[in-house]
Amino acid sequence: MEIFDAAQYLQAELTIEMLDANPFLQFEKWYKEAIDAKVDLANAMSMATADGRGMPSVRTVLMKYFDEKGFVFFSNYQSKKAKDIEENPQVAVLFPWLSLERQVRISGNIEKISASRSLKYFMSRPRESQLGAWCSNQSSIISSRSILLQKMQEMKEKFRSGAIPLPNSWGGYRIIPETFEFWQGRNNRLHDRFQYQKRNTQWEINRLAP
Ligand SMILES: Cc1cc2nc3c(=O)[nH]c(=O)nc-3n(C[C@H](O)[C@H](O)[C@H](O)COP(=O)(O)O)c2cc1C
Repeated sequence: MEIFDAAQYLQAELTIEMLDANPFLQFEKWYKEAIDAKVDLANAMSMATADGRGMPSVRTVLMKYFDEKGFVFFSNYQSKKAKDIEENPQVAVLFPWLSLERQVRISGNIEKISASRSLKYFMSRPRESQLGAWCSNQSSIISSRSILLQKMQEMKEKFRSGAIPLPNSWGGYRIIPETFEFWQGRNNRLHDRFQYQKRNTQWEINRLAP
C-alpha cells in the first residue's frame, strides 16, 4: 500500500523570538497548549532505549510530572526497558502532538527516582493499579492471561487490608535532558525546528533545517 500525503501544515509558526531561553519553560508552554487543544494523551511519550549492543527499542510511557530536574514516568524495574537502561542509561523521547502539527524530541540520561518519591506516587494510585503493579513481571513471557488473573486474585488476598507496599521492582525513572527539539510543521515542508543543546549550565539554541 502506498500513501499519498499532500497535507500542508498551516496552523502556526515558531520563531526564535517566540522561544523561552529555558527549554523546560518552553516545554511547559507547549504542553499547556496541547492540553488546551485537547490533544489525546498529551503526556504520552514514545521512549527509545538501546541495549548494550546498540539495538534500539521504543515504547509509549506516560510522563507523570516534570520540572527542571527532568521528566518522570513510572515502570517496572525488571522490564525490557529497565534492562536496556542498566546497560545504556541514555534515552530519547518523543511527544507526538500531531493535531497541533508539533513534536517535541528530548534526549538525555536516565536514572531511577528515590523509593520515597515512587512510594508517594504509588500511594496516589487506585488500589487496583497498586495490585496490578504486584502482578506483572513486565516483559517476561507468560503462557496465558489467566496467569495474570490468578496472580491478581492472590495479591488481593495477600493485601486484603491495610496499605499495599511499594513493590521493589516498580518505581519512577527521571529523564535528564541534554537536548530538546521543538518542531512546528509549516507549508511546503519548510518546517520550523529549534534545538536546545546543554553546554555546561547554559542552553544553546539553534535553528535546524527541516
Ligand atoms: C498509552 C500508553 C501508555 C503507557 N504507559 C506506560 C507507563 O507509564 N509505564 C509503563 O511501564 N508502560 C506503559 N505502557 C506500556 C509500554 O508501552 C510497554 O508495553 C511496557 O512498558 C513494556 O515495555 P518494555 O518491554 O520495553 O519494557 C503504556 C502503553 C501505552 C499504549
